Amino acid sequence: MKNVKLTLNPRDRKSKINKEIYSNFSEHLGRCIYDGIYVGENSDIPNIEGYRKDVVEAFRQLKLPVLRWPGGCFADEYHWKDGVGDKSQRKGVVNNWGHVSEDNSFGTHEFLRFCELVGCQPYISANVGSGTVRELMEWIEYITFDGTSPMTELRRKNGRQNAWKLKYLGIGNESWGCGGNMTPEYYCDNYKRYATFCREYSGNSFYKIACGPNADDYNWTEVCMKKIGPWQMNGLSMHYYTVPTCNWDHKGSSTEFDSDEYYSTLRCTLRMEELVTRHSAIMDRYDPQHRVGLVVDEWGCWYDVEPGTDPSFLYQLNTMRDAIVAAINLNIFNSHSDRVYMANIAQAVNVLQSVLLTEGAVTVKTPTFHVFDMFKEHMENTLIYSHIENEQAAEGVPTFSQSASVNDRGEIVVTLANCSLENEYTVNITGAENAAKASGCILTGEVHAKNDFDTPDNVHNASLEVKCENGEVSATLPPCSVVRIILG
Ligand code: AHR
Repeated sequence: MKNVKLTLNPRDRKSKINKEIYSNFSEHLGRCIYDGIYVGENSDIPNIEGYRKDVVEAFRQLKLPVLRWPGGCFADEYHWKDGVGDKSQRKGVVNNWGHVSEDNSFGTHEFLRFCELVGCQPYISANVGSGTVRELMEWIEYITFDGTSPMTELRRKNGRQNAWKLKYLGIGNESWGCGGNMTPEYYCDNYKRYATFCREYSGNSFYKIACGPNADDYNWTEVCMKKIGPWQMNGLSMHYYTVPTCNWDHKGSSTEFDSDEYYSTLRCTLRMEELVTRHSAIMDRYDPQHRVGLVVDEWGCWYDVEPGTDPSFLYQLNTMRDAIVAAINLNIFNSHSDRVYMANIAQAVNVLQSVLLTEGAVTVKTPTFHVFDMFKEHMENTLIYSHIENEQAAEGVPTFSQSASVNDRGEIVVTLANCSLENEYTVNITGAENAAKASGCILTGEVHAKNDFDTPDNVHNASLEVKCENGEVSATLPPCSVVRIILG
């Protein structure tokens, strides 16, 4: 057993940890929307108005703040009018992900109703790649205008009397790639055209998110900050995925990997720290007031698909390795919450590093789900100073990832990941000596341990003993574990 010291300073208060950091992304891709979220009112699968009941309940449990939709790449080929009105009359669509035909039975009304049921805010990504400014103007009028107009008449004819509120609006997705292969200069001009016509009706106001860089494309950020600037956008997105082998042709299996590949997965994940730091530094030069938030609206592990599944459906399983990756990323976002406003894991259900997996009537909460469940205690807290006397678990991989916050009751919330596959550690915590009580929660298992349809609850949260006596606070973390400690 090894010892390590964690120092907290609850008087050194930093930025607010926006709840939006704990958001999700749902795309019309594979079985995320159809099957994963929506099965239709006539399904035998228990549902509320066609939405899987267990999925609605699972997202309520997470207090999901924001759900992004309809893509991803799908957003730039989505024409919203095809997805409203009588479902039997809706025009179908061929989804470029696998060229599957969709009946458009999940459209604007269905997405916004799902958000209402879950209690989260909708985040809509607008079609800049193959749409028009007029199309977006009309969509906004349809969703948010309370008065009389052709679009509101159409909405009312389609069964919705009152306008919805829509705060989060993305102007294009990956416009440097699947969203139109644009240069940053060309995108910025387009952003300004589209953003100009995003009218704010009936008390609705937008948090407009410009399409930001692909991973380390620092020039993209520079151009957006220079050409759009902090007064015409509220957020700038960034996408970065963890690919264990750093080779997109052979990304590696989600369940079969050796310890070298485990540590290379973590090295790849830890790049998020550098990316957030360097993009933030560029943003600081143009926006020292931090008006513009960095919105990491796609992140997570991207592996080779499960053998036997459609390669374009991006279906993969989820192990304790994914739990460690989720904890590292969320601790990074918390630690940079002065700039990171929102983050959306890719994706919510059945695609990439999913929070939930479904098959028939069964829904499985993945190890990643359980990490979100633990970390939700940071939402809306204030980040505080924390430092751990770290050592390397492997080359370029520190053993611990951590962040700490204080809530409005004065309790301290600490989240830690022990990334070592070999060593157990007792973490001695200083700086919270006045704590009268402590509670802990742990997710741990052999690194390949997973939740699947045979063993849906194999990996689950359990209580962790936290010693809190005579001013000494400590807890013992087994190898490959994620924990949350609350001191009050
Ligand atoms: O999440 C899957 C895809 O990854 C999204 O459609 C796209 O935005 C990104 O390249």
